Amino acid sequence: SQPAALPRAVGAALAKEPSAQQRLTIVFGSQTGNSRRVAEQLASKAEAAGLAVRLVRADAYPTREIKNERLLYVVISTLGDGDPPDDARGFVEFLAGKRAPELPELKFGVFALGDSSYPQFCAIGRRIDERLAELGAVRLVDRADADLDVERAAKPWLDAALAAARDALKAHAPLATVTPLRPVAAPAWTRERPFAAEVLVNQRLTARGSEKDIRHFEISLEGSGLNYEPGDSLGVWPRNPPALVDAVLQTLKLDGNASVGHEETTQPLRLWLTEHRELTKLARPFVAHHAAIAGSAELNRLLSPDHAPALVKLLAEYQVIDLLRAFPAAWSAEELVAALRPLTPRLYSIASSQKAVGDEAHLTVAHVAYDAFGSAHWGAASNYLARSDEAGRVPVFVEHNDRFRVPRDGARDVVMIGPGTGVAPFRGFVQERAATGAAGRNWLFFGNPHFRSDFLYQTEWQDALKKGALTRLDLAFSRDAAHKVYVQHRISEHGRELWQWLDGGAHLYVCGDAARMAKDVHEALIAVAVAHGGKSREDAEAYVNQLQQQGRYARDVY
Ligand code: 2AM
Repeated sequence: SQPAALPRAVGAALAKEPSAQQRLTIVFGSQTGNSRRVAEQLASKAEAAGLAVRLVRADAYPTREIKNERLLYVVISTLGDGDPPDDARGFVEFLAGKRAPELPELKFGVFALGDSSYPQFCAIGRRIDERLAELGAVRLVDRADADLDVERAAKPWLDAALAAARDALKAHAPLATVTPLRPVAAPAWTRERPFAAEVLVNQRLTARGSEKDIRHFEISLEGSGLNYEPGDSLGVWPRNPPALVDAVLQTLKLDGNASVGHEETTQPLRLWLTEHRELTKLARPFVAHHAAIAGSAELNRLLSPDHAPALVKLLAEYQVIDLLRAFPAAWSAEELVAALRPLTPRLYSIASSQKAVGDEAHLTVAHVAYDAFGSAHWGAASNYLARSDEAGRVPVFVEHNDRFRVPRDGARDVVMIGPGTGVAPFRGFVQERAATGAAGRNWLFFGNPHFRSDFLYQTEWQDALKKGALTRLDLAFSRDAAHKVYVQHRISEHGRELWQWLDGGAHLYVCGDAARMAKDVHEALIAVAVAHGGKSREDAEAYVNQLQQQGRYARDVY
């Protein structure tokens, strides 16, 4: 099995392991990399301040060691509907469970990440923060809850956490034992400094008549020096549709050319709204602010605790423009810029292998465009990419994901489950395995509404089957028959064979919808281990968890 890859900093810190009394341990749980980034920032600041630091991904943290820790910071995100990131499931379960020890000697702090458009915002971080206190540990810094614009909350928390750590370790940390982090060569283009990439191909994959507009994009990385591996994502900084920015300006009767200062930046309102503020996602704080300005009793009622489901529905259905139209209010340009969330990049699983496509990155993107409340609505990044023919170069960066990789051992079999746009990374996997001459077999499960209109990359898969790059393809077209057929039904139908693959050491991958599909597939896998592995329900669950821990069952879900 593949050992979990650790961030480079871990190796450096472990090289001269200072005792738990003398060091700061930072544990992070990260699905898309935001938590990891904050944890790494904290680690390098603490190292620079002369502290001994141990930086560990949650699934690589030996939980029994927690009772030896004296100073622990946890940086952890919450997935949409309240789940921990995959790499932190064990850590979170351990802390919540009966086996968690009393921790009277521990000092701690928690940085929580989440998305405030979900009701379970930062729930995992909150629970860990409460639980550590319950176990007797002393909270050294107050928890911070970060929304999608992580940096806003991260800056002050990092400062407070660092100051508290220095105080706490002052008595213990002799400078001589400190191992400085090896300088990590920074890639030229990053999230903060993206590469302006040319979109070479913008092609619709779904046929006319499909309910979906799924696109294939080929993006040139030529001259950027950017490299990726299948499993990585491409970050795209979107720009809001000009028509939407116009609609907001018009509705609020604001002048797009007016210059607006916020924090250290002064620029025209139109530029704020186009490149720096979220318009296509709505979150509770903005609704609350809007209710106050609008003086709307109806909105205030929605915001009261006993109307939580109604607010969730509003946040799911309304974009900013819908709120502005439904509840008129007089915003000033300055207030608006301060209240809207900063725009954040969207991550798309890369659908290619550089061994096959060289200096390009391919993406499979569902273009979000629909009518609601009498006007057109869009998804910011998918529409930006769809408009790229006119809009020009697109700011991108590569977000690495060490947890989603083809097996290092090419002889291993691979099972890929990717309905809808979840198929994207598997196109990269199949390209990669063909290019490296991997001897293992490749089995893909794909699903979408209709065979005729929604069979993404149909000819490529058929070609791959012919050439042997793909061994098996099982399809679930959900709306072609009288009853729904999903990928998990195909998994059950072929359970015996799937079990043989797993028993032979196959690696399993799931990509796509987190809320429903990934959960149902997880259940189907447990059922396969019961039906064909002769296991009890409990043993089957343990088996699947173990696959996950060994890095043989990885998920890229959103
Ligand atoms: P549906 O929209 O017809 O219900 C990609 O979106 C495919 O995933 C579609 O065929 C969709 O079917 C299907 N899908 C929806 N819910 C699912 C679930 N819980 N498990 C697996 N597939 C699902």
